[in-house]
Amino acid sequence: DGEVYKYYSDGEWKKSSSGKTVAIINPTTRKTQYKVQACTQEEVNKVMESAKMAQKSWAKTPLWKRAELLHKAAAILKEHKAPIAECLVKEIAKPAKDAITEVVRSGDLVSYTAEEGVRILGEGKFLVSDSFPGNERTKYCLTSKIPLGVVLAIPPFNYPVNLAVSKIAPALIAGNSLVLKPPTQGAVSALHMVHCFHLAGFPKGLISCITGKGSEIGDFLTLHPGVNCISFTGGDTGIAISKKAGMIPLQMELGGKDACIVLEDADLDLVAANIIKGGFSYSGQRCTAVKVVLVMESVADELVEKVKAKVAKLTVGPPEIDCDITPVVSESSANFIEGLVMDAREKGATFCQEYKREGNLIWPLLLDNVRPDMRIAWEEPFGPVLPVIRINSIEEGIHHCNASNFGLQGCVFTKDINKAVLISDAMETGTVQINSAPARGPDHFPFQGLKDSGIGSQGITNSINMMTKIKTTVINLP
Ligand code: G3H
Repeated sequence: DGEVYKYYSDGEWKKSSSGKTVAIINPTTRKTQYKVQACTQEEVNKVMESAKMAQKSWAKTPLWKRAELLHKAAAILKEHKAPIAECLVKEIAKPAKDAITEVVRSGDLVSYTAEEGVRILGEGKFLVSDSFPGNERTKYCLTSKIPLGVVLAIPPFNYPVNLAVSKIAPALIAGNSLVLKPPTQGAVSALHMVHCFHLAGFPKGLISCITGKGSEIGDFLTLHPGVNCISFTGGDTGIAISKKAGMIPLQMELGGKDACIVLEDADLDLVAANIIKGGFSYSGQRCTAVKVVLVMESVADELVEKVKAKVAKLTVGPPEIDCDITPVVSESSANFIEGLVMDAREKGATFCQEYKREGNLIWPLLLDNVRPDMRIAWEEPFGPVLPVIRINSIEEGIHHCNASNFGLQGCVFTKDINKAVLISDAMETGTVQINSAPARGPDHFPFQGLKDSGIGSQGITNSINMMTKIKTTVINLP
């Protein structure tokens, strides 16, 4: 009834003294697939202590050596892509091919971060005093970037490897140590990824991976005085963390309700293809998924027909055989999605397909004629269900987008670049994609959410900068 995995502390794999484990349920079989240690608060304390110690000497390790180790970890990660992907398939029901892509993308991200770090951290600034009124040229100011200390990384279930390394690599290249709290679904994939860093030969205690119930160690970790920075990706928990966290930098990527605005002149085949990719890849379980289509009434019938035809071609089933639509991560998630669907049914949405569910597997569903009084117009299903709202003006579309409490990404489809740019400017979201579905990557692009979608900006360069502080030394001349 599930293999038991150890947690990683002080460069060693350990069993928790709690004697307890946390079960990881395979979303497809709905049976226990793996078990991980339910770590205790004392074990968290120990990890924090080692992280603090290890960071001191790591900060003094030459930048090129830090980069060298990261490149090594990236190569090992790619070598281990098959077994890690297998865990992703079993823990989070990610389609097999996408699981491999996640690991390869992660290796590339780690290498790119090492290179970027060498460049941007290898540079400082030199300022002179006489540019500010009243000053002579008697002060020389030298700036450099120094690490923050211990970074706590909390990635979500949908990218347990990629959204872990997108925090780990910038933290480490910048001279920080790193404590990882993986999501429960995805914990074994994350432990396996950490093993690759272990094999690369990072100093003991520099990276740790602590597993357990959020209810037992979640607050203890995020409120721990030893933590100097939190990088979190996930849902509402992020809002709770940011309200409680102390005076430390926070990087938060929370939910999204990414709108896809379709104008009358749009290439509807391109739109339909992007709605399928954007709305249904990994069964809609991406914060950047297209979560509401806002289409001009005059082209709505044609677009809905095109999307319907493509939905009919999506394969539905287990992730092992690489189906497009796979079971959603948990039963509670499936129940939540079903709640949104039932609410839309009661309020009169048009079902383009029949609603069908078996266990955690929900068949892809397009809901037409959705109105603002329906929950699905505002809430994110995080599942393969996509609402279409028909609009009569561009302003109506922008208004719906901006009335959301989320502001992650959005997209607009039109052949008129001037209109597209004006709409992009008007949309209150961190990114607007013109003529393509929302997406975080390429991973060196800035990635940020406005409003409840997040704090700060990610992307490789921004994450490195965010995990450092500026230090200045001023030379005062006689
Ligand atoms: O789920 C949130 C991720 O940051 C989205 O990343 O656009 O590469 O799927 P993605």
